[in-house]
Amino acid sequence: MSLLFAVAVLGYLLGAIPFGYLVARARGVNIFEVGSKNPGATNVRRVLGSGAGNLVFALDVLKGALAASWALHAHSSVTLNAAAFGFPGLGTVEVAGTSWYPLGVAGLFGALLGHSFSCFTKFRGGKGVATGAGGVLVLVPFAGFIGAVVWLATFYATRYVSLASMLAALSLPLSTWALGRPGWLAGVTVLIALFVIYRHRENCRRLLSGTENRFTKKKAAVP
Ligand code: G3P
Repeated sequence: MSLLFAVAVLGYLLGAIPFGYLVARARGVNIFEVGSKNPGATNVRRVLGSGAGNLVFALDVLKGALAASWALHAHSSVTLNAAAFGFPGLGTVEVAGTSWYPLGVAGLFGALLGHSFSCFTKFRGGKGVATGAGGVLVLVPFAGFIGAVVWLATFYATRYVSLASMLAALSLPLSTWALGRPGWLAGVTVLIALFVIYRHRENCRRLLSGTENRFTKKKAAVP
């Protein structure tokens, strides 16, 4: 349990690196004050163009994937020397087979919390889509692929990034279950989907009132 907590804390610190804020800041923009005021790739792209937006997207995906990468050892049987990771009190932990998966899940949940409530930006942050996608592609790759297809289909049909993100998140539990993965893993994707939708509550209000931003290739003016 202590090891799970330590991995979640490491994931939090990784997720808390505010790439959207940093990339925008390097261009003289406070991303918390412009566009949708969200420090995610969509808003960075909206305000600063596709180069900056794509960079933030790649970095946010990467941190989610790295935080969950403990699960990549799921099919190996190894011994984890906790002391080597800086946790001498934990000693040596036998980790075999699917027992690595909970570490990947703990790392990803930590990263999602870090991304959305970053200690480096006064506990403000993004909506968890790119970071969650990176983690899901590691934990349940085919469900992540289906989520990407749902995202693209919704986006090209509506030009709403937020709607595409929420429907992609909602597809994860269904596809994880349909793929015959363990029930608890489907439960993990339910929590991820609920988290993403909760973080999009302002977008939901705008969608319902018809005031949500539609994606446009035109770069928005910076106030
Ligand atoms: O990933 C965030 C996206 O779904 C919505 O971003 O800036 O339009 O609120 P934004």
